[in-house]
Amino acid sequence: MNLGQVYTKQTVADFMVRLFTITGKACVLDPCFGRGVFVNSLLANTEFVVYGVEIDEVSYAAFGNPDETRCHLKNGDFFDVEGAFDGIIMNPPYVRQEELEKLAPLGVTKQKLQSACWIMNISSKANLYMYFILRAILLLREGGELIAIFPNSWTNTSVGKQFCEQMKLHGYITDFINVEGEAFEGSPMVDVCILKFIKGMRGETRYQTMRITQDDSLLIEDVRHLKNEISGNLVRLRSVASIRRGITTGANKFFVNPPLFTQTHLVSILSSPKDCTGYTTKHCRQDKLLAIKSSDILSEEEEIYLGNSAKVILKEGKPLTLKTLINEDQPWYYITVPETAQIVFSYIVRNNLKFVLNVENCNVRDNFYMISSRYNSLLLMALLNNYYVYRQLEDLGKSYGKGLLKLQKYDIDDIKVPHPETIQEEDKVKLVQLTEELVKSSDECHIDAITNLLASYYGYSGVKEQYFELKSKRLAHYE
Ligand SMILES: C[S@@+](CC[C@H](N)C(=O)[O-])C[C@H]1O[C@@H](n2cnc3c(N)ncnc32)[C@H](O)[C@@H]1O
Repeated sequence: MNLGQVYTKQTVADFMVRLFTITGKACVLDPCFGRGVFVNSLLANTEFVVYGVEIDEVSYAAFGNPDETRCHLKNGDFFDVEGAFDGIIMNPPYVRQEELEKLAPLGVTKQKLQSACWIMNISSKANLYMYFILRAILLLREGGELIAIFPNSWTNTSVGKQFCEQMKLHGYITDFINVEGEAFEGSPMVDVCILKFIKGMRGETRYQTMRITQDDSLLIEDVRHLKNEISGNLVRLRSVASIRRGITTGANKFFVNPPLFTQTHLVSILSSPKDCTGYTTKHCRQDKLLAIKSSDILSEEEEIYLGNSAKVILKEGKPLTLKTLINEDQPWYYITVPETAQIVFSYIVRNNLKFVLNVENCNVRDNFYMISSRYNSLLLMALLNNYYVYRQLEDLGKSYGKGLLKLQKYDIDDIKVPHPETIQEEDKVKLVQLTEELVKSSDECHIDAITNLLASYYGYSGVKEQYFELKSKRLAHYE
């Protein structure tokens, strides 16, 4: 059963606990404490009286109560909790609406979730984490604070928009922190945000980015200045599309094209930019990825294969993350396959910057970024494949040696594009047609045409020349 068990790193949990402005012996709840990372941090860093709930018997029993004088833990369903809390902190389970019915044996049904959030208007397509957050808001006293880390895929969907409107009816988001890097143990494939909400208050949201480095240091940066910089109808790409990295295996030699007869858990994956030509994934060459979820049942062959692979990892002592998981007897081979993206982009570039239309709905490896939005894929392609964007990328990217340009996820997030809703209908039609032509022929004259059409939205021209000048400077030293 998928209970959405993904665990927050200690440093991230400590940071989140520090976001509380409530003090003293405030009552603070973690509604799904898992291995207890927030409970431990609350006990170590505050005087709060801590309440914790966890539905999974095994996790509940494994944790134990570290301080019975001020910590109260319960094995049960959060949606049975009543009361009024000063603070709630959580990493709610990520379970899609399609999978919700599988939780019925634990007493968690869609009907129960909806009645627990009775005054909220929630889409029937809502993910379990949305119910957790809205129910938590109902359980806060006025002025109470909610701090949550959860996937940020909602920021660009209509379900997410409705979810956000419901939150705002009951208070305001004081802090919205977009997280870059691994916030969770074992690198599960999710882009997340941290949000702080205060019930019954109004105010302005502070936007920040948190970068988590390889050694788990946290680098926080204010993004307000970026927002102010934007004029007219231009917006940052991240506000109209979601950008995430492709699938990381941590050890390709065990997961990509494994020598297995059992095909059940193999999915196709695009591994390298060299495997697709032009501006589409059509006819691209794909590898096979061993993608096992926690709910999957393994064949004997897979068990043996994974057992042998674990031995090799222990012997070689790397990769370290997998070695640690194996040593701790934790599942080390789960890979979450995210929904495929509309557009994929290989972020180490030599010659041509190229956003590729994912017509084949390919899964991609982590040398690609995956870009999706609720807008027409061809329109989004046009907003990305033009000299306004290529020029920005030449500026934003970092040299990667030998004339190569490397684009980080935050560079792609920061690209300025015209807001799709401000583009006139007739222009949208033309942009879609031009992209169809570009995808069919790979003829760059269509990129010129798209650029010309977008000139009135950007309000300046001459951008193609600037792009080629920057590019030739970058390549000059290495040719
Ligand atoms: C994403 S994990 C987070 C665990 C922990 N708080 C952390 O951040 O490391 C979510 C946890 O919610 C638990 N869970 C799922 N549904 C629940 C429910 N209805 N009530 C309480 N706990 C639940 C899962 O068993 C899992 O341990």
